[in-house]
Amino acid sequence: MKKKLIAGNWKMNGSLAANEALIKNLLAGLGTPACQVALCVPSVYLAQCQSLVNGTAIDLGAQDVSQQPEGAFTGEVSSAMLQEFGVRYVLVGHSERRQYHFETDAGVAVKAQRALACGITPIVCVGETLAEREAGRTEEVVKRQLAAVIHANGHCISEIVVAYEPVWAIGTGKTASTEQAQQVHAVLRAQLKAASPQADRIHLLYGGSMNAANAAQLLAQPDIDGGLVGGASLKAPDFLSIIASAN
Ligand code: PGA
Repeated sequence: MKKKLIAGNWKMNGSLAANEALIKNLLAGLGTPACQVALCVPSVYLAQCQSLVNGTAIDLGAQDVSQQPEGAFTGEVSSAMLQEFGVRYVLVGHSERRQYHFETDAGVAVKAQRALACGITPIVCVGETLAEREAGRTEEVVKRQLAAVIHANGHCISEIVVAYEPVWAIGTGKTASTEQAQQVHAVLRAQLKAASPQADRIHLLYGGSMNAANAAQLLAQPDIDGGLVGGASLKAPDFLSIIASAN
């Protein structure tokens, strides 16, 4: 059985001092985790965090990558640049990027391609809004978002991670019920299986108000292979307790 993956998404939070304290506290309590652990940090802190997690059980992640390989794209960070800092994972298509930066399914698929080309695992985020769920469109939306990535990356699709994050559950304290989450995960698993005989090795993460209290139940579902954790990843005791639930 594959190990679960617990990835923290710091979003636009942190400072040199806070990052150092948080990572030191995590390492102090981590021991030898039975699951994989990653932190997706703001890109300006990659160098700092790389030196803090180097040689530990924590892998480094970034929160976004450019669709372009290099050149005149002011403000962008390329996958080759991330690779230089030992980045193992990069979030692509987080709902905040789709919403505030108008990222499209096709653009997200290219980002996944760029990451894979540099040996970085894209964590492809999919999820429906509340209006879409209420209109009964959840399945259609997540399948469309994932299909774009499968279409562009079919030959190496088993190298990606997928995070199902219902938009209405992100940062709201409203978690999808274990049944709601498992149901969507099963749909995504079936879609991946149809695309690749190796789909069973793909980690399917749940994200959206995962916390110390609800993690164990979510992680016990057959198609939930880990979590993408926002708010609760900023507090060492909470994140450690989620990691313990995955062990
Ligand atoms: P949350 O964020 O855990 O704070 O809801 C999850 C995410 O956006 O990745």
